Amino acid sequence: MGNVIAVASGKGGTGKTSFCANVAVSLCALGEKVLLIDADSGMRSLDLVLGMTDSLLFSYGDVIRGNAGLKEAAVAHPVARNLRVLTAPGEPGIGEVYAPEDIAALLSRVRAHFTYTLVDCAAGLGADVLSFAAAADRAVIVSTSDYTALRGAQSTASVFSRIGQDNCSIVVNRLRPGMIREGSAANIDRAMDASGLSLLGVVPEDQAVIASGNRGSIMALDSFGPAAQAYLNIAKRLCGQRVRLLDQVPGREWKK
Ligand SMILES: Nc1ncnc2c1ncn2[C@@H]1O[C@H](COP(=O)(O)OP(=O)(O)OP(=O)(O)O)[C@@H](O)[C@H]1O
Ligand SMILES: [Mg+2]
Repeated sequence: MGNVIAVASGKGGTGKTSFCANVAVSLCALGEKVLLIDADSGMRSLDLVLGMTDSLLFSYGDVIRGNAGLKEAAVAHPVARNLRVLTAPGEPGIGEVYAPEDIAALLSRVRAHFTYTLVDCAAGLGADVLSFAAAADRAVIVSTSDYTALRGAQSTASVFSRIGQDNCSIVVNRLRPGMIREGSAANIDRAMDASGLSLLGVVPEDQAVIASGNRGSIMALDSFGPAAQAYLNIAKRLCGQRVRLLDQVPGREWKK
């Protein structure tokens, strides 16, 4: 049975969409069959990051309403083998909200076809986010190491726990060793204390993430830079492999 992971955050812009695209490709490289669901209804962006804007005709809303089959709506990525993408419904500003049981039924269906499903949620705690988080097998909260974002991560995890999603871990994104050395950003231990969550991984600040997002090409497909390595290590951990955290980023000074 497939593994469905809701990727969420308290504050916006922490790196959820970049995480989903790159970890999905890394999971495919490890031989997994992966579905990416853009659940940011009304504000979708995965299609841009994946360079698939013109090919995603049907949304998960169409699948729920029976306007399209799952196979028809979940479109194969043009480059990454074993990756399919199901986009979000809605024009900007008019996101649609679906009943929690409809979203749970959708996730039950995708579990039968994919070994991993990553759900790229909207920031915050909107109704759809809660429905996806409650019906997923686990949640990953993506945060930067800013204390405001870490507090948002903690609040998100606490609401998820109240709706029955207790399998929650954190990814600390955009880690900047220089700022940690200067004492102007939280190190990993402080970030874990501030969020109260177990650590799934850290991703360093890396311009390649921004550049590839703007190009509509997934960084993890053609980069061996620090962020690409970090995403691959996270994918390995999701698959149950033991990967030491400190091997993630060249240079270990960020831990101090
Ligand atoms: N590790 C990183 N290093 C450098 N830039 C990054 C990194 N991760 C994300 N970014 C950049 O940060 C910006 C926001 O990232 P992204 O869109 O993935 O965040 P998000 O959490 O999905 O945002 P939203 O809440 O609006 O959906 C993008 O410009 C992206 O390229
Ligand atoms: Mg996003």
